[in-house]
Formats: sequence, C-alpha cells, structure tokens
Amino acid sequence: MKMKNKFLSTISALSVVATTCPLNASAQKDQSMETKIDALMAKMSLEEKVGQMAEMAIDIIGSWQGDEFVVDESKLQKVIDQYKVGSILNAPGKGLTAKNWYKVISTIQKHSMKTMGIPCVYGLDQNHGTTYTLGGTIFPQNINMAASFNRDLVRKAAKVTAYETRAANCPWTYSPTVDLSRDPRWPRVWENYGEDCYLSSEMCRAAVEGFQGTNKNHIDGQHIAVSLKHYLGYGVPRTGKDRTPAYIPDFELREKHLAPFKAGVEAGALSVMVNSASVNGIPMHINKHYLTDVLKNELGFDGVIVTDWADINNLYTREMVATDKKEAIVKAINAGIDMAMEPYDLEFCTLLKEAVNEGKVPMSRIDDAVRRILRMKFRLGLFDAPNTMMKNYPKFGAKEHAQLSEDAAVETQVLLKNADNVLPLKKGLKILVTGPNANTMRPLDGGWTYTWQGDADNYAQDKNTIFEAMQQRFGKDNVMYEPGVTYNMKGKYWEENNPEIEKVVQAAAQVDIILACVGENSYCETPGNLNDLALSDNQRNLVKALSKTGKKIVLILNEGRPRIIADIEPLASAVVNMLIPGEHGADALARLLAGDDNFSARMPYTYPRYSAALTTYDYRASEESGTMEGAYDYNALIDVQWPFGYGKSYTTFSYSDLKVNKTDFGLNDDITVTVDVTNTGDCEGKVSVLVFSRDQHASIVPEVRRLRAFTKINLKPGETKTVTQTIKARDLAFVGTDGMWHLEKGKFMLQIEDKIAWINCTQDYKWQ
Ligand code: BGC
Repeated sequence: MKMKNKFLSTISALSVVATTCPLNASAQKDQSMETKIDALMAKMSLEEKVGQMAEMAIDIIGSWQGDEFVVDESKLQKVIDQYKVGSILNAPGKGLTAKNWYKVISTIQKHSMKTMGIPCVYGLDQNHGTTYTLGGTIFPQNINMAASFNRDLVRKAAKVTAYETRAANCPWTYSPTVDLSRDPRWPRVWENYGEDCYLSSEMCRAAVEGFQGTNKNHIDGQHIAVSLKHYLGYGVPRTGKDRTPAYIPDFELREKHLAPFKAGVEAGALSVMVNSASVNGIPMHINKHYLTDVLKNELGFDGVIVTDWADINNLYTREMVATDKKEAIVKAINAGIDMAMEPYDLEFCTLLKEAVNEGKVPMSRIDDAVRRILRMKFRLGLFDAPNTMMKNYPKFGAKEHAQLSEDAAVETQVLLKNADNVLPLKKGLKILVTGPNANTMRPLDGGWTYTWQGDADNYAQDKNTIFEAMQQRFGKDNVMYEPGVTYNMKGKYWEENNPEIEKVVQAAAQVDIILACVGENSYCETPGNLNDLALSDNQRNLVKALSKTGKKIVLILNEGRPRIIADIEPLASAVVNMLIPGEHGADALARLLAGDDNFSARMPYTYPRYSAALTTYDYRASEESGTMEGAYDYNALIDVQWPFGYGKSYTTFSYSDLKVNKTDFGLNDDITVTVDVTNTGDCEGKVSVLVFSRDQHASIVPEVRRLRAFTKINLKPGETKTVTQTIKARDLAFVGTDGMWHLEKGKFMLQIEDKIAWINCTQDYKWQ
C-alpha cells in the first residue's frame, strides 16, 4: 500500500499517469527462490516444460476398488514419467478419506520427484470447507459468508479449510470464487460473495489471508494456495445460463468485475482460474488484453493462470474461435494461459511441443508459464516437503471446527420479515415443519459437498435436517413433520414428486404455527440452469393452501439464488432466508428461531419481486424515473422484494450524529465517517454498519448507491458505540468510457441507514 500512496500523491488535477507497478510490498518475489528456479529451468527439456503446463484429472490415473480409490502405477507412469505432467486435480466422483488422499497424492509425488525432481501440485475444489475429504468440516457457502458482512468469519473458515486440506496432503484449492452474482438466474450465484464489488473484494482478501496466510513467498504447512476464480466477467451471462456469453461495458468490467481479483492479487493469491465463457465476443481464455496486459502486467500478478475445466478444448468445440485443438492451444497459451486443466487428454503436451517447434508459440511464453508454475511449487514448500501427513493435523474435523461452522451459519441467515414479532417462537408452541427442504441435508449443504452436485444425504446423515434440529431444540412432541412436496432425489435438481398438499393441511389442524421450508434442491454449474425464476408451482401451492388454515406461517427459504415468491410472501408472517448454510445450518436456524441467538445477516444480493424486473442495488440513476410533466406521463420504477443490505434483527438500532471529518476533499484525502449506533431494543445484537455513497452528478450516468465501507459490531440493550470508518477519496472514483479512473468535482452523498452527510470534491482528477 505504501508504494501506491506515494505514487498517488504525485497525481495532480487532470493529470494522466500510468499505474503499472506491483501493488504492495508482499507482491515482491523472493530473489533466492528466483535463482533456484533459473537453475532448474536451465536443465529442463521442452518436453518437461510443456508437461509442467498440463493438468490432468485423477480419473485417468486410477479407479475405485470398493471404498478406496487406488492409483494404477502403469497409468501414473504414462502421465508422470512419460508425459511429465505437473499437476493433477479433482475428486474421482466423490470425496476420499484423508488417509486415501495421502496414499494417492504421495504416490504421485513419489513418481514426480523420482523422474523430474519436481513435485506435482494437486488441486481440489474445497469451495465451502473441506468439500472433498470425508469427515472434514463443511462451512456455509460463500453467499452466506457474504451475508455475514463479517471479514473475520471468512478468514477463520478459510484457515480451517486450509488446515484440513493439508491434512489430506493437498496444497492447492480452486477457491475463493469471486465472480459478481449480478444476475439471479445464473446457477452459480451461491458460490460467490453476492452482487457488490466492494463486499466481494473485502471477502476475497479475507479468504486469501485465511487460506494462504500473509506471506505468499512462504506458504507454511498449515496453509494452501488459492485460485481466484473465474477471471473475468463470468457472473452476468446474457441468457442467464451458465458458461454463455456476457456483454459487459469495459468500464464496468474494469471497475466492478476486476475489483475482487485485484484485492486477491494484492493479498498475494498464487493462482487465478479463467472464466469459461466469452465476454464481449472474446472467450476469456484467449483474451490477451485481460490475461496478460491487465492481470499480469498491470496488476503485477506473478502467479499461475490456470484454465477452467477443458476450456482449451471448448475454444474449438463450443466457442468456435479455433478450427482444431492445436490452434486453440496456440491462441490460449499466447494470450497468457500458464496451465491447461486439460483434463483427460495427454495430447495437449504433444501439440504444444509441436507448436513451439513450429514457431507458433514463442519459447519466452513457455518459460514465463513454467517459471510461474515452479514459483508456486516453491512458495508452497513442495520441493522440501512434497507431502503433508494426517498425524500432524490432530484438529482435522474437530468439534471446535464444527462449532465455528455452526456459529458462522448463525451469522449468515437473513431475517427478512417478522410481522407481529411472531419470531422468536414462543416456548411450548406446537410446530408443523413442512416443505421439500424440511428433512433433507442436500439443499442445506448445496453443491460442492462430497460430490460435484452435492450429495449430503448420503454423507452427512449424522447431521441435523431442519426437522431434526427443530425437534432437538423445541422437544420431540412439539414438532411434527409432513412434507407435502418432495424433490425427486434421483432426477434433475428441479424435479419434484407428486405433491400431497392435503395431508399437510390436515396436519396443520393439530399445530399452532407452520414452518414452511421451501427453495431449491442442490445443483452446481450448468446442470443448475433454469427457465423460470419463480419458486416451483407445487411449493407455492403448498404455502397458499396452508394460508387458508388460518395458522401463522414462517417461510424458510433455503435456495442458491432468489426464487420469486411475490405471491406467497404476503401469506407468511415471517420470512428467513437461510441461503445455503452448510452442514450445521439447521442447528443454527433452530438457535435463531428459539431466540437463543439473534439474526445479524444482511442480503448480499437484491431479491427480485418480478421476473421481468431484475436489477442490482447499484443501478444507474436514470434506470428509475418518475412521471414527466405533460403528455408523457409514464414512469420506470424499481420495485424489488428485498434490497441488497436488507436484514432484520430481534432488536432495533438507531443511528445518530453522523459526521465527516471534512466536507471539501481532494484525491489524496481520507474521509472519516463516524456515527453513533444505539441498541434501542431489549436484546443483544450484532449489526453491520454500512456506508453507502452517491455521486450526485457525473460525466457518465452515476449509480444511485455504492457500498464503500462496513464494520460489524455487537451491542447490548441500551448500549451505544461510535463507529468510525474511513473511505479513501480515490475509492469514490469511477472508470469512464475512456478506461481511465475519474474523480470528478461536485457533491457526493454519504449515507448510513437514515442518516446522510454531503461532501464536496473540489477538483477533477483522471488517471489510469
Ligand atoms: C468449474 C470450476 C472448478 C473446476 C474444477 C469447473 O467446471 O467451473 O469452478 O474449479 O471445474 O473442478
């Protein structure tokens, strides 16, 4: 940061300066390590070099034998000894025990060290905890972690995940996922930190620190390398379908979509995975400008750029920008790809070697890629210690890790409605738990849990479903279960069995209140595509039928993206959005519903009310317009179910005395905002204090609101705390259509809840 400040202080009004230096001190390389890499590379053949650039899936080196995955030495020999492959990835269909992982990965390492003296780097999608190691700790999905607005929680969960991943001898994860989920139709909304670039950046930074620690040159045996994904512009496909083209104005791509990646690179991320799809017509895998010029040169990223699954092949089979595999390889490698997640075809090595010999890929590009890969392996300490052993990780799957996951789940479920204080549920009430999400683990855990699409029912039977957790907390006799609607667990994620709504209506006669647990079954990536954003007919019909019983309904949403519920929301007295809270999410819910804990989460995305009125909180001013005078008496109004940042508590907070340290500011100023927050209710509660800004007038249509800072605090009843947050003036700038950053003269509004303050930028500034 020091360098950046010094640098910025030289910017004067309307001056234009190129900022192509690495962003912070930790971005510096370790020179003695670079010397070792030089020496190693001097001895490597072209074959060995292209092998380092290939990544293969585990399926091609072994098979399941009963409950154990066993490496086939002859297959391994071909992959490692013959083709010199430098990386293997993935779980073979399902998770392994830590012991089994050790056996698999240490066998690979034995071959790698013997044939090349270079360790292999194994990678796994530990996307919300120890996804692929049986007995590990599963955390809430990233969308929940974002809803906590608590950086510390994200850091701690990542740290535990890193520890448990190393316990299974794996040093690399394809996490955190930091795409901006700005289209609710997209099936990967839940894998990310929501729609806002500042929240995503802050969570990304915290995750990288948790996974890797703070010295990227020396990742110790308790930490693992991250892969920020999926660079860049993946979260807003025009069709809403996964891996389809996005069209994003360059100024938005740079200002918003790039922000979390920049934060992750500054925090020292060792690798970045590329967006499978195209943006503005160019598949990201061949976008030299964004891969090389922006990520490597401008942001100073010195780690590895890895493709997503089979995406070099997709260049000629799906994207149609290459006629055959060799052309696809040439385009991708020349654009800046360092490692190809192939994942099945060793021909990649042969074709890349040919391309180099034919002069189609310069040797300098190969050397740059290999240097980056070796650097990651050195930074991970794999040359000195290619394996890590379970016996050194006594806390693998420990109770305290499970407790952290449950506490995280408490902080990540959002209370959206609580009419007449129906919650917390009074002691002794008779409760009916219904709906397809009421008695299954699968949607609580979501995708990337033991298997790709999520299979928690088979692996997490010892954990509590909502029905079980409610029985435990409220007493067996007080809680009954009748589902009414169930998912077809053998079918597609959206398939449901024939509904039995009448049975639930009858059961409702015996209870005081109904917990309707609705939402989605688990899914992941393209299989999670949808055609209708509304919650399913069966589920909405269930709630409608129950509303006629006159019993109060608490709607529990357990879903990966906001499914439209406008017609049933008014029928519910209370609404809780659990999002995808993980293995301990139901226990956390029961704690919250009983009032033993308080809600403190806020929506990390905008919850739409209508399917044809999709928007984000940071829409541009003229997207909403009132009625004009005269004959043109039409308007365009934004109408959403719940806005970004919305979330209730069992207590109430009031805000007073909002102050800023200066009203006039220039580019190098820090703006300090203070506000007094008081707990005006009668129970303890945490609250995230969010600071929004609004640029009143700008040379491009400004957004109505932008999140600029947040701090989470805890307040006892009656307690007041003064919360001080600092915004750098340059953080109020925007990227213009010229690709430059602009901070323009004029008024800005700062807002915390119902309090506002005006500040004034005294000059125009512009920089690169
Ligand atoms: C996903 C990535 C994932 C990779 C490896 C791809 O299909 O898009 O997020 O890291 O597979 O499993």
